[in-house]
Amino acid sequence: MEFMEKSIFPKDFLWGGASSANQCEGAYNEGGRGLSTSDMVTFIPKEELGNNYNLELSLSHIDKYLKGDHGAYFPKRKGIDFYHRYKEDIALLAEMGLNAFRISIAWSRIFPKGIEDTPNEEGLLFYDKVFDELLRHNIQPIVTISHYETPLYLTLEYNAWENRALIDLYIKYAKVLIDRFKNKVKYWITFNEMNMMETTPYTAGGILLEKAKKDKITTVYQALHYQFVASAGIYEYAKKTAPDIKVGCMFGRLEKYPVTCNPEDALQTMKEDQMNFFYADVLVRGEYPGSMLRFFAEQGIDLDITAEDKSALRNNHAAFVGISYYMSYVAQKDPSGIKTFGNIVSSVRNPYLELSEWGWPIDAVGLRIALNRIYDRYRIPVFVVECGLGAKDTAGADGTIHDDYRIDYIRRHIEAMSETIQDGVALMGYLAWGIIDTVSCSTSEMSKRYGFIYVDQDNYGNGTQDRLRKDSFYWYQKVIKSGGTSL
Ligand code: BG6
Repeated sequence: MEFMEKSIFPKDFLWGGASSANQCEGAYNEGGRGLSTSDMVTFIPKEELGNNYNLELSLSHIDKYLKGDHGAYFPKRKGIDFYHRYKEDIALLAEMGLNAFRISIAWSRIFPKGIEDTPNEEGLLFYDKVFDELLRHNIQPIVTISHYETPLYLTLEYNAWENRALIDLYIKYAKVLIDRFKNKVKYWITFNEMNMMETTPYTAGGILLEKAKKDKITTVYQALHYQFVASAGIYEYAKKTAPDIKVGCMFGRLEKYPVTCNPEDALQTMKEDQMNFFYADVLVRGEYPGSMLRFFAEQGIDLDITAEDKSALRNNHAAFVGISYYMSYVAQKDPSGIKTFGNIVSSVRNPYLELSEWGWPIDAVGLRIALNRIYDRYRIPVFVVECGLGAKDTAGADGTIHDDYRIDYIRRHIEAMSETIQDGVALMGYLAWGIIDTVSCSTSEMSKRYGFIYVDQDNYGNGTQDRLRKDSFYWYQKVIKSGGTSL
């Protein structure tokens, strides 16, 4: 290919898209699947939700909706019906030219309650079919073992990741996946965005804080510790039984700038950075960083960490660092002026950056900085497994969707990645988040669209669910074909 000669991107660069089971599969009560935590999220219209996020649930909410739906709509039960339409969707991804597609596996499709001794064959068969279809189109599946959903039974009976028992239950589940799919799936991620445990223990850890035995902060870091040990268990298992696969870690990179050059603001930024790097520090370097040990001591956080846990972490490491990146943040020492802004994480407004329709600052340079810093810190391959723009799209009567704003966003971020590669960073690939419109994670809206493929479905699940090609579809097709030279 003429263009490929000039390409900065390596020949094996993974050009792809990303999604998750709870946001796209639907079919929540088919194929022997059990209920998962995400099935209990009801739709709350913007007028009621305001700038809040729909990620934490209470026991009374769950009790109520276990008894009946009371007229509520549960967007994550319906997704975009990828479960039945995966062939059509994969054909569109192939037409776009993708060579990688990230999906997650719904734990409750494999172990409906999470505690069974044998897996649900029907669930495994579904993913066999999806992977076969992807491979038939030369698309590498990238698999997240746990993406923001836990079998609901584990929440109700164990308070999920609050409980050490989850380590073994997760390891049993993940081993089944590796045994079954190791010849079809090369790249794996143990948990999606581990750092979200702090802001949303229910979504990230299946934890109902009202049931927790300890205070919030201890519960959160304990749950994370168990997820670290579970990840290490799977790194070890993969090394022994499937040396050809690569199992990585993932966190949401919160790139932060100090609000001024006052050393106190710089120090605050450094501290927040250390908190954000902590996840990969443990899983790549194999031990808790001193900054976190100090934080635990100062906060009076006393965790259940055994000598076996420490040895598992020391001896088993992530093969790559996956990140999601959507925006950058600003840190300042003085807490006044910091408000919840954009995403669930608080920040000061950066006057140099435009905002998306959902108030998320757009900053491609921040991605270059993030990737350089991560690579400098860990010196192992880095993978952008999520990045994209949530926006309202309008389909014309002729079925066209002109999403130049999305093209502009993605173009700037791909340019930043090209610079990053020239900076010497070992960048494995780029997976555009929500390549097919899906239910939003944080608000459960359909109208917050990330896709290059439009799905005709509204916030209440009405619509034909037809798939339409947006302008970004044709643009990304050209980008991939040219090896990133035609932007
Ligand atoms: C990431 C999640 O935090 O951001 C995805 O891993 C999510 O699941 C994505 O969809 C975008 O967030 P949202 O809330 O706009 O869907």
